[in-house]
Amino acid sequence: MIKMDKLVIHGGKSLKGSVNISGSKNAVLPIMAATLLADGQYRISNVPNLRDVQTMSKMLKSLGSSVDVDGNILSITTNECQSIEAPYDLVKTMRASIYVLGPLLTRYGYAQVSLPGGCAWGPRPVNLHINGLEKLGASVEIQKGYIVARAKHLKGSHITFDVSSVGATGNVLMAAVLAKGKTVIENAAREPEITSLADFLNQMGAQIHGIGTDRLEINGIDQLHSANTHIIPDRIEAGTYLIAGHITGGSVTLHQANASHLRSLLQKLQDSGAKIALGEDTLTIHSNRQILPVDITTAVYPGFPTDMQAQWMALMSLSSGSSVVKDEIYLDRFTHVAELRRLGADIILDHNVARIKGTRQLSGAPVMSTDLRASASLILAGLVAKGTTDISRVYHIDRGYEQIEKKLQGLGADIVREKEVLVI
Ligand code: EPZ
Repeated sequence: MIKMDKLVIHGGKSLKGSVNISGSKNAVLPIMAATLLADGQYRISNVPNLRDVQTMSKMLKSLGSSVDVDGNILSITTNECQSIEAPYDLVKTMRASIYVLGPLLTRYGYAQVSLPGGCAWGPRPVNLHINGLEKLGASVEIQKGYIVARAKHLKGSHITFDVSSVGATGNVLMAAVLAKGKTVIENAAREPEITSLADFLNQMGAQIHGIGTDRLEINGIDQLHSANTHIIPDRIEAGTYLIAGHITGGSVTLHQANASHLRSLLQKLQDSGAKIALGEDTLTIHSNRQILPVDITTAVYPGFPTDMQAQWMALMSLSSGSSVVKDEIYLDRFTHVAELRRLGADIILDHNVARIKGTRQLSGAPVMSTDLRASASLILAGLVAKGTTDISRVYHIDRGYEQIEKKLQGLGADIVREKEVLVI
């Protein structure tokens, strides 16, 4: 018998009040991997309590580090690695495990990391990670589902990514900081999570220039030292709560969010009729229930994030007209469409283009989470659907949203978590 949680939402409440935004999942995961680069003690604050952080902690422990969690503080002690293999049973649950590849390779000259496999919305290639490491002088083979990388000593190189990749930029950056000589990375990802990784590496003694741009220059050095850091706010969690305020016609204030990481979303929310107010360290959205149709096309930062595409589609399902949502980053990231349709959304999907005709009312129904951001989209729709919406398999949502039902309850939502017993 399998026990899985489900969320039960009674729609129709306008959200009002304040919510604290947690630290960024996609910032803390590469930073945790970076602690493999130097022995010593690391203290990382503002760490979100998420399943993915627990998975990365298990990964570091399996490699010989010690990891202690105290609330939102992570204490990591890196000793000489006992193992340089990232096992399939851990990697298959979290693609970001691949972030240990660069650090292990550059520090120990050898790494064995399971291929991440696909995810809910299709294959997730790693060719850019492998090509980048090969450019630094590594020999990389795929053996029995594992990436096996070897390098006597990595040497700096000039690397140009064909496609801007957050993960590949992070992996190659962490490998380059201990490589011999200078590395230049062109078409580097500029996401805030990569900027925060580069800042952390420099606090560890690395010499990275061009941080925040798509051209990074790294002067390799022989040794790094441990450092402490505070994780940046999660811009995708923040964006999700902003849409929750707008879709329910409410007024929501975010604390500890960074508005400068959300410019493209804030613009689209204003285009869609919401009012945005910036305070000292607050970001408030006011909505008057009028949701205007606004097209979006996802792009690399600072464009509209693909991680907000599903949530935007839920909002557009209730707009006063027709809109188009296009995902240019992941062409098949649309598993949420079928589930939104079950709630009454009028969506036609053609490859990576969804045409949405806003409807006046969605109706509650049982739906199933398929991946992290699709789950968020179903919760947003459930908050306004007439009647009850049951969302099963919420272990997906627990990967990336800290205490989501408690935070939504704090804003007045009628949402509870129930144990769902599935008989196998
Ligand atoms: C990161 O994934 C995020 N995950 C994703 O967030 C996010 O959707 C994605 O960046 C895009 O912003 C983490 O940071 C842990 P990519 P990543 O490499 O690094 C192609 C979430 O919901 N590509 O930037 O895996 C790829 O197919 C998650 O929090 C290659 O072709 O994404 C995609 O089309 C989901 N070859 C594009 O690049 C490669 O070797 C961008 O992917 C790698 C990527």
